[in-house]
Amino acid sequence: MILDVTRRLMSVTDLDSLLHLMAEATQELLAADRATIFIVDADRGELWSRIALGTGEIRIALGTGIAGSVAQTGEVINIPDAYADARFNPEPDQQSGYQTKSLLTYPMTGQEGRVIGVFQAVNKHGGGPFTTADEDTLASLAASAAVAVENAQLVAEQKQLWQTLIETLAMTVDARDQQTAGHSLRVTRYADVIGRAMGLRGKDLEKLRAAALLHDYGKIAVRDKFLQKPGKLDDAEFEYMKAHAEKTGEFLAHLEFPRDMRDVPVIAAQHHERMDGKGYPKGLAAESIVLGARIVAAADVFDALTAPRYYKPAYPLDRTLEIMDGMAGEHLDPKVMAAVHAAKPHLEAALAALKHTWPKPGYEGMGTIQEAAGLSERDRAAAKATTS
Ligand SMILES: [Fe+2]
Ligand SMILES: [Fe+2]
Repeated sequence: MILDVTRRLMSVTDLDSLLHLMAEATQELLAADRATIFIVDADRGELWSRIALGTGEIRIALGTGIAGSVAQTGEVINIPDAYADARFNPEPDQQSGYQTKSLLTYPMTGQEGRVIGVFQAVNKHGGGPFTTADEDTLASLAASAAVAVENAQLVAEQKQLWQTLIETLAMTVDARDQQTAGHSLRVTRYADVIGRAMGLRGKDLEKLRAAALLHDYGKIAVRDKFLQKPGKLDDAEFEYMKAHAEKTGEFLAHLEFPRDMRDVPVIAAQHHERMDGKGYPKGLAAESIVLGARIVAAADVFDALTAPRYYKPAYPLDRTLEIMDGMAGEHLDPKVMAAVHAAKPHLEAALAALKHTWPKPGYEGMGTIQEAAGLSERDRAAAKATTS
């Protein structure tokens, strides 16, 4: 049974599922009425668990209570009769109406001998105490559980590192130009909403979000005088500005993406391609543009229109959708636009939640340029949106 549990533990890499699996196994192997697994949070000096009280999280300071002292000392505490033992705190029982009797609390020790978690089994079936055989069973389970938990923690840390790394890259590029403050973050949220409306899930959504976050990364190589020019770019400047999409692809090709994330640079680099083939950098058309890039393109235009820019005010949602509908077919993918409409309430909520990330009014250039004469509002917005 322990071998079987071990096999199952090793196939799980997220901590929440692991906690659940370990609690189930403990309950089953020890014939206990309940089992809770606590994990040590060394940074906060606490133990936490998600199991005991349903979906909520419980936290205990290290050194307090029975689980807290097992975590601190690494010593097993096996109590045959909880109410006859001074270390037992009857308060949770009083609140829940549960009657604790026998209680086995066992440390989970990690690679360097540190206690990384605690098993707690409550009320042995049949009413007797937990035995030394139960302790031996937990010793075997704890050994494999510790490996699984440390693995899961490592995976979570790697994911965190990866996520904060790409967020930092996006922040550095957005920070170069006040008028696009928060742009990459917002495009990521909008792309996520649109992607979901198109039925994307799991890894596909993850790839889409990473590509959206990094879509304008190539702007890091665009000189300030073009990037921050408070006014309309002339044709030559616009040509120069266009290089950012290709640069995004080049720079991201340097990042060693995990195997299942390899399309990210391609999605990001194609965000200025258009359905009619008149986009850049490659002039790809329609279905030869990857779906993710067609979604990022719509999210990109959505942000350019809804957020204020020096050459335009923040357009309201309905006006934005109207302009985007006018771009469907030639520029934007009509299927993506259908998803934009289907997701309108979600986009509206995201828009409201992200308003505080908009560029602040009153910085140099903002609100001073309203010329761009000779173009209709729609043309101006659409033309400008493609430079974002
Ligand atoms: Fe762009
Ligand atoms: Fe953009």
